[in-house]
Amino acid sequence: MVAALREVVTAAPFFSPETRWGRPMSVRMTSCGRYGWYSDRRGYRYERRHPSGVAWPPIPASVLEVWSAVSGTTRAPDCCLINFYGEGARMGLHQDRDEADFSFPVVSISLGDAGLFRIGGVERGGRTQSVWLDSGDVLVLGGDARLAYHGVDRIRSGSSSLLKEGGRINLTMRVVE
Ligand code: SIN
Ligand code: MN
Repeated sequence: MVAALREVVTAAPFFSPETRWGRPMSVRMTSCGRYGWYSDRRGYRYERRHPSGVAWPPIPASVLEVWSAVSGTTRAPDCCLINFYGEGARMGLHQDRDEADFSFPVVSISLGDAGLFRIGGVERGGRTQSVWLDSGDVLVLGGDARLAYHGVDRIRSGSSSLLKEGGRINLTMRVVE
C-alpha cells in the first residue's frame, strides 16, 4: 500500500492547505479518486483537480479492498484524502461534513507513526475520548458516529519503521456526491 501511495504522491504531490483563516495547516495533504479535498480562504470543499491542474490519480486497489471489507456498502468511494503528519503536526477537532450523503461512512487507515486520535460526540464541546491509532489500524466513522467531532492531538515520532522518513499517513475514503 505504501508503494502504491508513493506513486500517487509522485503524480499529485503533498501540499499544505490553508484554513479558512488563511493559516497553513500543519498536516500536508493530497488526494486520489474522482475528487480531492481542498481548503483555502474560500472554505472547505472537494475539487476535481490537484492544485497543479492534474487530475487526482486513481485510488489504489489495496486501499479500495479495505473499503470493500469494512464500509458495508457496494458504492465505491469518490475520494481518498491522504494526510501526512510530520513531527509536531496535528489536526483540530472537526466534523467531516463536506459530503452530500452522511449515510455513507468515512473509512480511515493509519500507516507509520502512531497518532493520538480524539473523538467526541456530534456537538462541539462535548466529552471526548482518546485512542492511539497505530500503523495498520482501520477506523470507520459510520452510523451515529458519522458526524462525530474528531481530530489528532499528536504524533508519536519514531514509533513505527514502516515509513523510511518517519511520520504518519492517514487515509480517509469518502463518498462525496
Ligand atoms: C481526518 O480527520 O481527516 C484525519 C484523521 C486522522 O488523521 O486520523
Ligand atoms: Mn476528518
